[in-house]
Amino acid sequence: MVHLHFQILKFMFTKETYIRRRAQLKAQIKNGIVLFLTNNEASMNYPSNTYRYRQDSTFTYFFGLQLPGLVGVIDIDDGVEKLFGDDFGIDDIIWMGDQPTMADLACMCGVAQVHAMGALQAYLAKAVHKNRRIHFLPPYRADNKIFLSNMLNLPIDQLQPHASEELIRAVVNLRAVKTAEEIEEMDKVCDLGVLMHTTVMKECQIGKVERELAGRAEGIAISGGTGVSFPVILSQNGETLHNHHHEQVLRDGRLLLADMGAESVSGYSSDYTRTFPVNGKFSQKQKEIYEIVLQANLESIAMAKPGIRYWDVHLNAATVIAKGLTELGLMKGDYKAAAIEGAHALFMPHGLGHMLGLDVHDMEDLGEDYVGYDNHTFRSPIFGHGSLRCGRELQQGFIVTDEPGIYFIPQLIEM
Ligand code: GLY
Ligand code: MN
Repeated sequence: MVHLHFQILKFMFTKETYIRRRAQLKAQIKNGIVLFLTNNEASMNYPSNTYRYRQDSTFTYFFGLQLPGLVGVIDIDDGVEKLFGDDFGIDDIIWMGDQPTMADLACMCGVAQVHAMGALQAYLAKAVHKNRRIHFLPPYRADNKIFLSNMLNLPIDQLQPHASEELIRAVVNLRAVKTAEEIEEMDKVCDLGVLMHTTVMKECQIGKVERELAGRAEGIAISGGTGVSFPVILSQNGETLHNHHHEQVLRDGRLLLADMGAESVSGYSSDYTRTFPVNGKFSQKQKEIYEIVLQANLESIAMAKPGIRYWDVHLNAATVIAKGLTELGLMKGDYKAAAIEGAHALFMPHGLGHMLGLDVHDMEDLGEDYVGYDNHTFRSPIFGHGSLRCGRELQQGFIVTDEPGIYFIPQLIEM
């Protein structure tokens, strides 16, 4: 880890990590120029009032610099790496303190050349003129879409189809396999996620408002890292997961679902889902359902290992759920066939899990099927199974979430 004297830089591995990652990338791209954009600051309600800064994960992976205003370039043909960006001026330094120069930044991540941002357009135009391939990843932020559209003289709706599949596949190959130093970061941020959950469990009390617990959890994520890895889900109506309201009073007899995780200063994410009784004791009915989910969870942990397709782990979890619900009389018939046909999805509409890393849904911006499926494993068209984000064969170094659940969504059951 590098000791950083500039306050604006949060964390970096040593520069050898980034040099190695870029060398591995170069070995996988045949020719052309590769472009990596940083994320910009994003405004909340007026230009200078911004959200927490979040770097693009792929830029963090290859350059480690968690700062806006940079473009990383790798020329595959001559092997030269460049960082485009502008030095801070006195107008910034008055407000922000001493800042690294572009040369400092390039040195920290082992890049040879720096250039002013104003030189990028001419550099790219020259490459286009020579018919050189320019590889870029699918942009997901509006400002970067406009920037790329201007730089490459491509209409915005042509950016996605012109994104480089060769580059996407190479980045996925690298980022999917976590090294020992990444796993160390992941372990720490998982501990932070556990602290968020156990604190909420301990502090849960009838009469409190969900918001009090959600805020405690988010505070822990901010105190120990850069914040949450996705907006906290904490709800007595956790059967519909993407409900971010925390305004209900905690009631005796209800269950509380918490789906949350933290992001480390190094940029790595954790993600756990847990459900527990508000009053501290499951009713018999609640316990019966909880035990089924727990069984699915434990069997998934036992099954997941290199060489096993995560699709098979997901199907086993679906089968455990269908079996348990059949035994309780909530489903009927052959539970194995029911799980294969996706009938369990009435109670678990999502998949078992997804890759986890620098993003909570790791590399989802690059295209979920590139990340979670391969030449032998294809996404199911069936409701429920089709929501599985990662079905491919697991390899040493993959990190996936294991998040089975049983949800009672009245409108879905009604149908
Ligand atoms: N656990 C939250 C999510 O996967 O979206
Ligand atoms: Mn998740």
